[in-house]
Amino acid sequence: MRAIRVHFTATGSELRMEEVPTPQPGPDQIVIKAQAIGLNRADLGRRRTAPPGQPEPPATPGLDVAGAVEAVGIDVRGWRPGDPVTALVRGAYAEYVLTRAVTAYRPPSGMSIVEAASLPCVFLTAWYALTKMAGLKPGETALIHAAGSGVGMAGIQIARALGARVLTSAGSDARVARGRQLGAEAGVNYSTQDVAAELHHLTGGRGVDVVLDSVGGPIFDASLGSLAQRGRIVTIGAPAGQRASYDANALAAMGQWVKPMGVFNEAQEDGEQRGWSQLKAWFEEGKLHTVVQQVLPWTQAEAAQKLLTDRAVFGKIVMTVV
Ligand SMILES: NC(=O)c1ccc[n+]([C@@H]2O[C@H](COP(=O)([O-])OP(=O)(O)OC[C@H]3O[C@@H](n4cnc5c(N)ncnc54)[C@H](OP(=O)(O)O)[C@@H]3O)[C@@H](O)[C@H]2O)c1
Repeated sequence: MRAIRVHFTATGSELRMEEVPTPQPGPDQIVIKAQAIGLNRADLGRRRTAPPGQPEPPATPGLDVAGAVEAVGIDVRGWRPGDPVTALVRGAYAEYVLTRAVTAYRPPSGMSIVEAASLPCVFLTAWYALTKMAGLKPGETALIHAAGSGVGMAGIQIARALGARVLTSAGSDARVARGRQLGAEAGVNYSTQDVAAELHHLTGGRGVDVVLDSVGGPIFDASLGSLAQRGRIVTIGAPAGQRASYDANALAAMGQWVKPMGVFNEAQEDGEQRGWSQLKAWFEEGKLHTVVQQVLPWTQAEAAQKLLTDRAVFGKIVMTVV
């Protein structure tokens, strides 16, 4: 089969379409014949370094794939060849993709396979962060950073569906405005505004209850300074710089905390797919919508990734397998 693999070069890295062995499912796995691949910022990280426990290049990037079930492991129940499927995987940039069945999901009914490929990583991340980790309650204020990121686009809508008052942030007024269209009540432009001062103003000095931080650096610092009593920050990524250090004892005195989260751990622990069940229902009820800005063939994977590198995406980019 064909797969796109990262190779390190003297000047950096490149993506190469190559012939590799077609995977066979283990007992608890399925193989998916890929039709569409959702891009994530983590795909860019694979151009620089292998995450802990993952193979060094040449390695196949990609966390989101959708298509049809091709083969099913002997212990897997509920899936048959030909079933439509979307999945959180490692190694999505391939014609056939292996995954444990626990992170393979039925797409919401009526949704295209391209849209389905944009869902698992960002919607599940935002779901587990806001519910299982932060315990966001109706009426609380949730601050979902980076409205235009995949996680932000998903998080704003999920926080609203959970009954929270939603604030957001982004790098331009236009992106803040789009965050408001997704359900945020107000937002901060972190390129031009003082984030902490704006959040103070927007919460009447009370602060925010829950922060979903996918930006890090100075945005993390401003979030920390804007937490309400018993406020919680879930950090999932830091493209703007390392997470700052903080005084855990000082936070504890206010009943506050900061926790990192990894979506694979959460999704693999959720054997009954409770997170996906709720998300799927909300998509089918029209409470959630995905935002796919552009669809490109996977032969243009470098161009597709460059859109993410250039921060030229609101929502998601999806590649079709042609
Ligand atoms: N822990 C987990 O399980 C998990 C799961 C999913 C994602 N993540 C992480 O969460 C982060 C967001 O992922 P994503 O796929 O949603 O990202 P994405 O769609 O590529 O969006 C990232 C956004 O962050 C904003 N940003 C602010 N400062 C930035 C900087 N210095 N460099 C780049 N972008 C910057 C940009 O929006 P503006 O232009 O508006 O500033 C950009 O559009 C990534 O770090 C990713 O690895 C972690």
